[in-house]
Amino acid sequence: MSESNVKICLLGGSGVGKTCIINRFSNNLFDENSISTSGGSYSVKDVTVNGKTVHCDVWDTAGQEKFRSLTKHFYKDAYIVCFVYDITSRESFDQLKGWYNDLKQNGEKYTVLAVVGNKTDLYEKEEVNEEEARQYAESIGAEFQLVSAKTGQNVTLLFEKVVRVYLGPEFTEKVEEMKKDKGEGTKITAETIKKPQKQSKKFC
Ligand code: GTP
Repeated sequence: MSESNVKICLLGGSGVGKTCIINRFSNNLFDENSISTSGGSYSVKDVTVNGKTVHCDVWDTAGQEKFRSLTKHFYKDAYIVCFVYDITSRESFDQLKGWYNDLKQNGEKYTVLAVVGNKTDLYEKEEVNEEEARQYAESIGAEFQLVSAKTGQNVTLLFEKVVRVYLGPEFTEKVEEMKKDKGEGTKITAETIKKPQKQSKKFC
């Protein structure tokens, strides 16, 4: 089985559920009283798609406006970016355009993108129509996925979906190109393979 690693960054407004999605994905846990992130942190988990295992470094970023300038620093080497909104908050969906523009200005040349609507367990309070969100995703060339960090619905599916695109021939070529531009090889090193699993780190 071949192996590689990828940095995945979750972006979106404060309270949309980025920390909870990552916690569900990495540890299968949900915290009703999740504390707002300051700075950033990451969790590590493997995803296997079509017989290929990818070590995912999933980065949680702070959604609060006061940390906005800091968040840019997490875009480096992030070849997968998920824009998260809360389906019960129109404002959080409208904010995605700002995150997208910010990524385009400060992120990598090519990125696998996903628009992610969280909190589907609160469907009765929905403020953002699924079709509208799908169309927005399509307009920026992103995958689209509805999830619930609370119930766990579709969370693993989301990460499998983006990793599948990342491993696809089209994106692999783009990664090679970006790594060449940066003067990096694509060879897997012992360091990348031996990363500890299910570990969380905090950076403030
Ligand atoms: P910042 O760190 O401020 O950027 O916020 P965040 O996007 O990381 O949000 P966080 O994961 O901390 O969740 C915010 C609140 O939403 C918490 O009270 C969570 O319990 C709640 N929450 C997160 N995901 C879900 C979900 O799928 N369903 C419901 N009902 N609540 C959720």
